[in-house]
Amino acid sequence: MKTIAVYNIKGGVGKSTTAVNLGCLAGRGGHATLLWDLDPQGAAGYYLGQSGETGRGSGKLTRGKERLADLASATPYPNLDLIPSRFSYRRLDIHLHAQGHRRTVLSRLLAPLATAYRWVFLDCPPGITLLSENIFSTADILLVPLVPTPLSLRTFEEIVVFYERRGLDRTRVLPFFSLVERRKKIHRETMEIFAARESRVCRAVIPSLSEIERMALTLRPPAYYRPRSEAGRAYAALWAEIMTATELFEDTGRKTP
Ligand SMILES: Nc1ncnc2c1ncn2[C@@H]1O[C@H](COP(=O)(O)OP(=O)(O)OP(=O)(O)O)[C@@H](O)[C@H]1O
Ligand SMILES: [Mg+2]
Repeated sequence: MKTIAVYNIKGGVGKSTTAVNLGCLAGRGGHATLLWDLDPQGAAGYYLGQSGETGRGSGKLTRGKERLADLASATPYPNLDLIPSRFSYRRLDIHLHAQGHRRTVLSRLLAPLATAYRWVFLDCPPGITLLSENIFSTADILLVPLVPTPLSLRTFEEIVVFYERRGLDRTRVLPFFSLVERRKKIHRETMEIFAARESRVCRAVIPSLSEIERMALTLRPPAYYRPRSEAGRAYAALWAEIMTATELFEDTGRKTP
């Protein structure tokens, strides 16, 4: 099992859109894939055509009284299961604080799924909280969508500093540019500056495209329905890079939480 957390402190940078498109691609590649929508906003579930609200609290889950596997259900996409968001995830941090092994609760919950799934995507809420620390501890790859503006780069540095302070290996942090508008000089310049100092930035970029934005209306992830379109090709290129990057790390299933 390889866990890819789509994460940024910032909101609205394309985390959920990316998690859904990559999840569809991973499943289409023939491997059992799980997308866990950790954001109480429930966007990933919505994009996959499922309701976000299950009405249940999250305390039982963090206390180990509920099995994560029982919460997963099939989506309309091949090999892609979803654990939908719960509105109660807004209280997830409080429940995590109540646990003894606070930074490894998520790892403990995911560990039993190691043989069932090849890929696990975590669609993360924005912010930097105890939940984020749990996400950092369990993710093989912390995939960070960056809108190419100077402030985004500053936020990225904050993420890396925080990540390293937890004793984690920064080579697991994989940034890529999202919502790119090449006609904007500030986007082009920021990408150049960033690429010069951050060798691990993905070469694939996800442009700002109306066919991606329209996914919120059509509920048709372009990576799946329009693989030859500009959006479809961009997500395929990103996915190919991520798969190569994950080969550097052993499977999560072999990590002891
Ligand atoms: N490449 C893109 N081109 C055009 N629109 C995009 C692109 N990626 C995302 N969007 C749009 O931008 C908005 C935010 O995207 P998304 O919900 O994926 O971001 P997010 O980082 O998950 O946000 P949040 O922090 O609120 O969870 C949505 O309206 C989405 O349709
Ligand atoms: Mg989101």
